[in-house]
Amino acid sequence: MSKVKGNMKTCLNPVAKVLVSCRGLNGENNALAVGYCGNCSYDPPMVMVGIVPSRYSYHLIKESGCFVVNLVDKNYQETFNYLGSHSKRDGDKLAVMKVNLAEAKYVNAPILSDCPVNIECTIVDSIVTGSHEMFVGKIEYVHADSKMVSDKGNIDFSQINFL
Ligand SMILES: Cc1cc2nc3c(=O)[nH]c(=O)nc-3n(C[C@H](O)[C@H](O)[C@H](O)COP(=O)(O)O)c2cc1C
Repeated sequence: MSKVKGNMKTCLNPVAKVLVSCRGLNGENNALAVGYCGNCSYDPPMVMVGIVPSRYSYHLIKESGCFVVNLVDKNYQETFNYLGSHSKRDGDKLAVMKVNLAEAKYVNAPILSDCPVNIECTIVDSIVTGSHEMFVGKIEYVHADSKMVSDKGNIDFSQINFL
């Protein structure tokens, strides 16, 4: 195998394709597409998401101290694309795409009910790494489609047709 220098900004693959939903202290809901997302602690269970400060959602996440990571199925592709290319600054994109919301159990943010897995997180730390601020979220609760969960709560990810 012969190697040449690769692009450092896009060298890690596959990347996550999740929707992060959030709510401002005034009650407004929003969601954005996020590729900077990953596990960051097994015990206690934690995930992190990277948000660019210029995103409208950034301020909602910062002030509420929580967010929900929603895993996305291929049949949600159009909604994912829209939420990842339009800002709440220019209108209520959740309403435009008729995104179904439900209340979370523990955090003050909506869950996207048509996504098969929703991970409720409370922010315990954050670090500005460069272009993104990485928010470390302690997982408070995981909602998983009952059709794909074993008795022990393990999710059969082979049943999700990921983007
Ligand atoms: C595939 C994909 C991945 C993205 N990943 C991120 C990300 O990790 N962090 C981020 O801040 N924005 C990311 N974005 C961009 C935001 O989703 C986009 O700017 C969105 O319109 C912001 O919405 P808001 O201003 O309503 O918060 C991504 C967009 C796409 C399409």
